[in-house]
Amino acid sequence: MQQLTLTRPDDCHLHLRDDALMQSVLPDTARQFARAIVMPNLRPPVTTTGQAQAYRSRILTSLPTSSRFRPLMTLYLTDNTTAKEIQYAIRSGAVHAVKLYPAGATTNSDAGVTDIRKAYPALEEMQRCGMPLLVHGEVTDPAVDVFDREAVFIERVMIPLLRDLPELRVVFEHITTRDAVQFVTDAPDNVAATITAHHLLYNRNALFSGGLHPHYFCLPVLKREVHREALGKAASSGNPKFFLGTDSAPHAQHTKESACGCAGIYTAHAAIELYAEAFEQLGALDKLEGFASFHGADFYRLPRNTSKITLRKESWQVPDDLAFGEHRLVPLRAGELISWKMSG
Ligand code: NCD
Ligand code: ZN
Repeated sequence: MQQLTLTRPDDCHLHLRDDALMQSVLPDTARQFARAIVMPNLRPPVTTTGQAQAYRSRILTSLPTSSRFRPLMTLYLTDNTTAKEIQYAIRSGAVHAVKLYPAGATTNSDAGVTDIRKAYPALEEMQRCGMPLLVHGEVTDPAVDVFDREAVFIERVMIPLLRDLPELRVVFEHITTRDAVQFVTDAPDNVAATITAHHLLYNRNALFSGGLHPHYFCLPVLKREVHREALGKAASSGNPKFFLGTDSAPHAQHTKESACGCAGIYTAHAAIELYAEAFEQLGALDKLEGFASFHGADFYRLPRNTSKITLRKESWQVPDDLAFGEHRLVPLRAGELISWKMSG
């Protein structure tokens, strides 16, 4: 296949940052996607509806007036999020989900939940209203091996949570293991998952091939090949529980190329093209549109997009770095080729 026309996709998991940093990365997403679920892990985190509305306005005013891109906001769940706050969020129409970060699990997560039971009043209200909970599914227990933290999270947190709140709508974000694929596949229809392009394209060898590669470091960390294969099968299965979420997470170059480098991979510059490569490798380009453009919208109970995008089989070279406020960032595939190009 040399050309592919798709309904314009949605990115169901995106880090946009704020202010000048946001202004640098936003055009990449707005060019490809109709909508994005915008993560709330700013500093300080977006914990109230008022903060989410203000953040949404900052994003909208950074877009050219001709842009039809729409940010879908999320709240950052804390031990103190109240049921009332959930009601405000729902009434606002601007907030589409609430994000659970176990405290300390990843970038800007120190205000996260220390014990999920503390969040039960908010979660019960979300279950009642149908507001999705987006889960960063890794335990933070230092005794658990970093590569096992997602699988252990299923046993310790996901299963008990869904036992207590069986109708809570849950998105297991950026799944990375065959364990998570199995769990989501077997779960009832209120449980879904996002899958990133980088977890479809790379296994953990990318981190260490010929030296240490900080630009392949994200959380949850890349896993073994068997897990990458399971993610590919899930993404290309046509199962509506699995949908596109890039987890594009920009960090300034110097904060990644450091003795203690930040977690996060920037993929927004070529998101849909990277997914097209992954689906082509899987021999499943016909399944890309469902995964990228329909399943997420359906889960979020949003109308499907109607406009189209076109991708052509055409190699292009990714720049070595991109502007990021007053800094630079190194995108995935920097200086290398990507075999699909979005043409309009
Ligand atoms: C994300 C970030 O940088 O905000 N980093 C990452 O590695 N994915 C946080 C997150 O989603 O875990
Ligand atoms: Zn993320």
